[in-house]
Amino acid sequence: MPDKRSSPPVILVTGAGKGIGRAVAEGLAARARARTGAAASGVKLLLAARTQSDLAALQAALQGDAVDCGIVAGDLADQPLQPVEACLERYGRIDALIHCAGVGRFKDFLEQTPEDLEFTLRTNITATFLLLQRTYAAMKAQTPRDGMRGQIQVVTSIAAEQPFAQSSTYCLSKYAQRGLLDVMKLYGRQDGIRILEVRPGAAYTPMWGEMPPDQVARMMTADDVAQPMIDALSLSAHASIENITLRPLHGDL
Ligand SMILES: NC(=O)c1ccc[n+]([C@@H]2O[C@H](COP(=O)([O-])OP(=O)(O)OC[C@H]3O[C@@H](n4cnc5c(N)ncnc54)[C@H](OP(=O)(O)O)[C@@H]3O)[C@@H](O)[C@H]2O)c1
Repeated sequence: MPDKRSSPPVILVTGAGKGIGRAVAEGLAARARARTGAAASGVKLLLAARTQSDLAALQAALQGDAVDCGIVAGDLADQPLQPVEACLERYGRIDALIHCAGVGRFKDFLEQTPEDLEFTLRTNITATFLLLQRTYAAMKAQTPRDGMRGQIQVVTSIAAEQPFAQSSTYCLSKYAQRGLLDVMKLYGRQDGIRILEVRPGAAYTPMWGEMPPDQVARMMTADDVAQPMIDALSLSAHASIENITLRPLHGDL
């Protein structure tokens, strides 16, 4: 089998059009450009989100000598396997999935409708499960790279560990993601696939809409969340970071 160690890693980022996923994509490209000339230089990115124009703008900004950047637009709720299939078709393998796509509808418990519930669970639970399952299968079947078969990072939330008012459907979905990832860690430890759950507190992204400036000043940035996720890709083959919890310096909003 060909030695993959010196080829650029293949990284699929969902939710790459905005917010945390976009910051991850930009950070990965910046890191690849900074390392040009190193033994394992460059990166192969596959960026996924719903909005084609977001992805096209990002591709135009990132594509270059050190960065091969493919994009795929689609709704995970309808086509949960589309990003991983696109990644495998373009690059033939997947070294890391960084799953940032997620939704939330924030309103009182008694105001959440069946449609709100369905909307949230289809993306955050059903699509996430199917995407992760397909990705894991591809990683398990592929030749290891630097002693590892792959890494799956999922952005859950501190709402996966503590309740928030106005967040009944969101917390439901995030606690469920956490449960899935805890089970996947059992398999990942056996198969040489790292599973990382990232639990951010409030980071100012388009998900929040308009916010008063004093609240924004208290929040993290998308880059604050993205940077440790990018750093977690560079561990030796002997180690795995399984959880990252990030909060604003002065605590939750
Ligand atoms: N921001 C925070 O404070 C915070 C805190 C804790 C956890 N999180 C979690 O972090 C993740 C990212 O949040 P964010 O703040 O970066 O959100 P965001 O700014 O709203 O960006 C979300 C991205 O995910 C994509 N996306 C959402 N649903 C999708 C679907 N069904 N199919 C395909 N793409 C989809 C969006 O695409 P389009 O824009 O094209 O629709 C967008 O590119 C979410 O899981 C969120 O729950 C966020």
